[in-house]
Amino acid sequence: MTVDLRHVYSGKVRDLYEVDDAHLLMVASDRLSAFDVVMNEPIPEKGRVLTGLTNYWIREFASEVPASLVSCDPAEIEPFVPGFLAETQWHGRTMLVRRATMLALECIVRGRLAGSYYEEYAAHGAVQGMALPSGMKLTDAFETPLFTPSTKAESGHDINIDLTTAASLVGDEPLQQAMAICLSLYTRAAASLAEVGLILADTKFELGYVDGELVVCDEVLTPDSSRIWPADRVRSGETPPSFDKQPFRDWLSAQGWDRTPPPPDVPADIVEVTSERYVACYERVTGHSLSDWYGG
Ligand SMILES: Nc1ncnc2c1ncn2[C@@H]1O[C@H](COP(=O)(O)OP(=O)(O)OP(=O)(O)O)[C@@H](O)[C@H]1O
Ligand SMILES: [Mg+2]
Repeated sequence: MTVDLRHVYSGKVRDLYEVDDAHLLMVASDRLSAFDVVMNEPIPEKGRVLTGLTNYWIREFASEVPASLVSCDPAEIEPFVPGFLAETQWHGRTMLVRRATMLALECIVRGRLAGSYYEEYAAHGAVQGMALPSGMKLTDAFETPLFTPSTKAESGHDINIDLTTAASLVGDEPLQQAMAICLSLYTRAAASLAEVGLILADTKFELGYVDGELVVCDEVLTPDSSRIWPADRVRSGETPPSFDKQPFRDWLSAQGWDRTPPPPDVPADIVEVTSERYVACYERVTGHSLSDWYGG
């Protein structure tokens, strides 16, 4: 970025810059990570999709839960970051956020049996000591959505933990609060996605404290943080086609890669369908064309 900001952190997907004591710029790159390894090839439009979707959901939830997002509008970012308006390559992928002290948990909510949870259930019939009905198959719905936190690993893979362990990490009261917020957001989002024929199988929220208040941070209900299925294609026990990273993970798994760096090269046609899938997710969920989002 040619505007002069101190780079504070780069995650697998986002780059964080310091704006002032209270604010950060979070820039979503087009990097794609799978099995916690970042691919060499960027996925065109991915950063704008993640940012546009996060903005969409935070506006949807605004009356219910505060968020760290201040604005994605380049004109509103400009007074905080002079010169930003001219930096069109950052438009649409950048969020001005209030700096938060992150809760040391990944707050996962699951409505359907899938992913690592399905694998643990299939192997042990239970997950993290939670009593689950027997005979559930892949994609089956839980009676009520489950709050299944994991650790926020500094490096390597996040680990599923039970609620007692989660409480010992963040405290009982914060855990109860986080759980209530996340279950309520999941339920609202799932109902809203159902109206456009989509099933929210599971999603991960990250919360943090701003001025002593627990708020929604980071990305919200994106294809990177969520499993989203077309309702009419879901069959009990079968892997549904999905709008999230799963098709890419499936392609990777078929390459016989051992999931440690370096990742295999991703051919151009896979990059292209992956990009198209991200864009389709944005357009189906928001009902808007991605070209109408900032930076388009
Ligand atoms: N409002 C906020 N204030 C401070 N940090 C935030 C805020 N919102 C998100 N973050 C942090 O910014 C980072 C975003 O980077 P990114 O999503 O690329 O990370 P990641 O790959 O998911 O995880 P890791 O940080 O482990 O690499 C995360 O560490 C997230 O917890
Ligand atoms: Mg992240």
